[in-house]
Amino acid sequence: MDEDKIDKIIEEHRTDKSELIPILQDVQAEYNWLPQDTLRYIAKRLQVPLTDVFGIATFYKSFSLKPRGKHLVRVCLGTACHVRGGPRILETAERILGIKTGETTEDYKFTLESVNCLGCCALGPVMVVDNEYYGKLPPTKVEKVLHKYGYTSLSSGKGGET
Ligand code: FES
Repeated sequence: MDEDKIDKIIEEHRTDKSELIPILQDVQAEYNWLPQDTLRYIAKRLQVPLTDVFGIATFYKSFSLKPRGKHLVRVCLGTACHVRGGPRILETAERILGIKTGETTEDYKFTLESVNCLGCCALGPVMVVDNEYYGKLPPTKVEKVLHKYGYTSLSSGKGGET
């Protein structure tokens, strides 16, 4: 943990405990996840119970307590996307990145997840990278999309489960 970096984030929020959520958002933006030692440090600096910090970090789905890649790749396996080839998109992404669903590449560039519906079923099959949607995606285009986010064959390989 880089204490100076965390201190800077906390001070940008006036070391105000009511700013806990924005502070956690900024830390997550910096590291892509919330390391436990960092949560302990934030609790100490803001003088709030550690259970409160963990409570918020586990309540909001946008926070992750496990290492995550810089880019989050989500493939929809909801019914509409499933029948239109979602599983093949996911298999293709797994093969290209060299990881299984729920894992992160060794270089922490990509985390791959599946989801049940992204609310745009007519566009199926759908893959989302960070907040960008790729609809009616053929498996042959998956690699091209990943290249946009800096995929190189060096990115592939297992880094850790999320
Ligand atoms: S099933 Fe994939 S977006 Fe709804």
